[in-house]
Amino acid sequence: MRCTILSLVSLFCGLILAQDDGNTPETEKTSETQSCFPDTCNLLKEFGSLREKLGIMETRLKDSENQILELKKKETTKIAFSAAIGGNGQQIGPFNTDTTLIYKTVITNIGNAYNESTGIFTAPVAGVYYFTIFCHAGGDREGKLFLYKNDDLVVMTSDHITQYDGADNGGNAVFLQLQQRDQVYVRLAANSHVWGSDLHTTFSGFLVTQM
Ligand SMILES: *[C@@H]1O[C@H](CO)[C@@H](O)[C@H](O)[C@H]1NC(C)=O
Repeated sequence: MRCTILSLVSLFCGLILAQDDGNTPETEKTSETQSCFPDTCNLLKEFGSLREKLGIMETRLKDSENQILELKKKETTKIAFSAAIGGNGQQIGPFNTDTTLIYKTVITNIGNAYNESTGIFTAPVAGVYYFTIFCHAGGDREGKLFLYKNDDLVVMTSDHITQYDGADNGGNAVFLQLQQRDQVYVRLAANSHVWGSDLHTTFSGFLVTQM
């Protein structure tokens, strides 16, 4: 369609130029050719190139819109949890093997990535996460916790048996880069214990940023 219009206009312009036989007074000739037809030719040419540019702009706009949607999705992924061990004043442990702790009292679980029936946090998206563990225990046994990423020990707390120190506390924290579906959880070391309460021994984490 555009080709047809352009060639018709070229033909038209050609005819106009051909009519200029040299007898037309100089002023009239100038005003006729400049004020109308060649301008139309140029306009149509410009229109063509504008349409081309518009096509490119449309593509770029679509790309930008898609990128914004992706960023928005990232921005709206919120993951944060805190859970306490629970247990109503009963000591938890000792067990004769390392045992995954189930923090039963959920305080916050935005995004539901922490599973309160297994004690395991599963990363819903890849990114950098921050985890903390705090524990409270009596002094008559070790109070020792391990924070794992999948099968790897990452950080731990460790409190030794003492006769003179009745109350032990420990904690640790770590930034972890996780892939989607990586698991983070806490194990109680064999022969150690923690105090069971909704207030003292906690496991928390949140998504710092997606990557
Ligand atoms: C928590 O884990 C249990 C046992 O694997 C599973 O049956 C349950 O669906 C999980 N809950 C959520 C919310 O994923």
